[in-house]
Amino acid sequence: MILAPSILTVKEEERNSVLTELSNLGIIYLHLDIMDGKFVPNTTEGVGMLKKINKFDFVFDTHLMVEDPINYIDKFYKAGSDIITFHYEAVKDVLPLIRKIHSLGIKCGVSIKPGTSPEVLLPYLKEIDQVLIMSVEPGFGGQKFMESSLDKIKYFDELRNNNDDYNYLIEVDGGINMDNAPLVRNAGCNVVVMGTALINSNSKKEVIEKVDSL
Ligand code: DX5
Ligand code: ZN
Repeated sequence: MILAPSILTVKEEERNSVLTELSNLGIIYLHLDIMDGKFVPNTTEGVGMLKKINKFDFVFDTHLMVEDPINYIDKFYKAGSDIITFHYEAVKDVLPLIRKIHSLGIKCGVSIKPGTSPEVLLPYLKEIDQVLIMSVEPGFGGQKFMESSLDKIKYFDELRNNNDDYNYLIEVDGGINMDNAPLVRNAGCNVVVMGTALINSNSKKEVIEKVDSL
């Protein structure tokens, strides 16, 4: 299973050394959490952060927790995003945004919050490269994983197994640790986001190797 570290809780002065360490440990996907203080009750640095770190050779998996994501797409594309994920709950018209992201030649993800039923994505699944299932309320790292996300993972995995037109990856974000990583893997997850459990661990190497082997 792919491990996409989230550096939400890493202080700016430590960012370069953490990223160098992650890169040396073979990390390819890097999950960037972008928050506007409106869609979620927390704010992060915006595109400036990506500009500072795009010298690293990661797949920049950009998670926009913002109102009006349309206003962010071009800026993040230019700064180096390889995948842009927006929230279903943040937009009125999902399809134009998916098409806008694809028109730039990058991948598109759509995310749903814990309270959003998975069926809402049915009309768009053919066009989505990544379904991002939130397993905590978006906004902060270090929260507890919600077990209810396991049924959502299974739902999207079964649909994908029964429909040749669906080629999305399933990514899960929030409260992932070494206890629940095998559970999300068994449910059908392809990419796990891990913030606190990886960044605060005594051995990032061990965590990365274990997730890799799942
Ligand atoms: C929450 C973010 C997550 C979070 C992950 O809104 O989208 O990416 O930072 O961190 P942990 O693994 O600590 O929940
Ligand atoms: Zn995230």
